[in-house]
Amino acid sequence: MERTLSIIKPDATKRNITGKINKIIEDNNLNIIAQKRIQLKEDTAEKFYSVHKNQSFFQDLIDFMISAPVVVQVLESENAVSKYRDIMGSTNPTEAEEGTIRNEVALSIQENSVHGSDSLENAKIEIDFFFTKDEIVG
Ligand code: CMP
Repeated sequence: MERTLSIIKPDATKRNITGKINKIIEDNNLNIIAQKRIQLKEDTAEKFYSVHKNQSFFQDLIDFMISAPVVVQVLESENAVSKYRDIMGSTNPTEAEEGTIRNEVALSIQENSVHGSDSLENAKIEIDFFFTKDEIVG
């Protein structure tokens, strides 16, 4: 079994579609074993996305991620990391395959509704970033 970190982003919380996204997650047999709605602060968002700090879109990304609450989640299944990336679809929703979350609901390459860890190693780091062990009930 693997675990991965998911974030339902501000464009989705603002449109009241967190349940719709959770339904896609659960219909694909990923188990939501931890979940909380939080308001990111600028320094927390900057730390989480520090790998992108030299990208031209960095400040826009931070402004977007703190523009409304997010829902952070831990998902568990076999091959959860790659499975969730398949279910999310491409970063750019115009390239996301039919049936993926981003094809169904994302608005743009920035307002792309969900984040998922890109490797098992990063999944562990990202899960620890947001959750204590007690908050995860597998
Ligand atoms: P995410 O998977 O959370 O990882 C980094 C985020 O940066 C990405 O989703 C998008 O929200 C955003 N992003 C990536 N590429 C671009 C881009 N070219 N322009 C604007 N935002 C981007």
